[in-house]
Amino acid sequence: MNILILGGAGFVGNNLVRRCLREKKHNLTVVDSLDARLKSDIEFLNEERGEIEFIQADMRDSRSMDKIVEGKDVIFNCAAQSSHPMSFVDPAYDIAINCTGNITLLEAVRRHNKRALVIYASSSTVIGKALTRVVNEKHQELPLDIYSANKGVAEKYYYIYNRVYDLKTLVLRFANLYGPYGKASPEFGFINYFIHRAFSGKEISIYGKGSQIRNVMYVEDACDLLYQAIFHKEIFGGIYFAVHREHYSVRKIAEEIVSAFGKGKVVTVAWPEIRKRIEIDDVIISGAKLYNKLQWKPRFTLRQGLLKTKEIMEEYKSKRGDI
Ligand SMILES: NC(=O)c1ccc[n+]([C@@H]2O[C@H](COP(=O)([O-])OP(=O)(O)OC[C@H]3O[C@@H](n4cnc5c(N)ncnc54)[C@H](O)[C@@H]3O)[C@@H](O)[C@H]2O)c1
Repeated sequence: MNILILGGAGFVGNNLVRRCLREKKHNLTVVDSLDARLKSDIEFLNEERGEIEFIQADMRDSRSMDKIVEGKDVIFNCAAQSSHPMSFVDPAYDIAINCTGNITLLEAVRRHNKRALVIYASSSTVIGKALTRVVNEKHQELPLDIYSANKGVAEKYYYIYNRVYDLKTLVLRFANLYGPYGKASPEFGFINYFIHRAFSGKEISIYGKGSQIRNVMYVEDACDLLYQAIFHKEIFGGIYFAVHREHYSVRKIAEEIVSAFGKGKVVTVAWPEIRKRIEIDDVIISGAKLYNKLQWKPRFTLRQGLLKTKEIMEEYKSKRGDI
């Protein structure tokens, strides 16, 4: 198959490139804008560069997208402005990537490759605060930050292009992914930030008691799910939560990281005002709808995922000297 991964230099993209390369039978095109504001690092893909075609391009550039989507059987869209705090700092930038970027891609696919399977990595945070003990796809959407609002808008584009133009689109909503090739910066996913703190023996600060419950998923499981989805045409046209069955408090996640890495320390700090306002409290999400259709389940427990992350980070550091 001809597979295109957009946002391939990002955290999920890096891991998805490796998941697809495992099959040894696909032609892989990887696109990323390498936007310095998003702290993506093409270095992570250095060893894989010989096996992929890498194109530096922006999803918002319709001329590039028109050409790039041609002839692709599968298009994974992992390209995004993925930082919740940054979406407040520059909301227009978030809209440009997370809304305009997705429309530009969908228009390119509509005009040049309607037969492609297009899978969009969305976020569970589109729902905002959970109103029920367990959340499923029927839950209302009242997001609490600009990023999540725009992810919710983009989901609708994929849905509309399926209904109106028969594009084969699929939306998978992920939550709190962690693993290798993640960003060390606190503006991005909190688990990868905690992991980098522990990896370098630093303190991990949790807000308040850290008792909020979160789904967590090892990124290899998420990428396997993305990959397996392409063999299930019956789920296209839908929007699904793609989450692990495991849920833990933020404190427990931090403690598990310290234990698995054998370094770092958990400390408690007061909630910053902006964080308190956008805090979604306890969220327990069910991925049952998707799992039942795919007959798939995650392979990694939190402990196993953290130990594998540590192994890969240590190997990377010993080869390259830094991470
Ligand atoms: N990491 C998580 O825990 C998580 C959870 C839920 C949803 N998601 C979603 O999964 C997707 C991937 O997330 P991630 O953690 O890998 O993010 P990331 O920031 O690590 O990667 C995103 C990549 O997209 C690239 N990009 C941004 N704008 C682009 C553009 N206009 N054209 C081309 N490339 C562009 C960036 O350079 C970056 O390499 C995102 O859509 C995100 O919303 C991630």
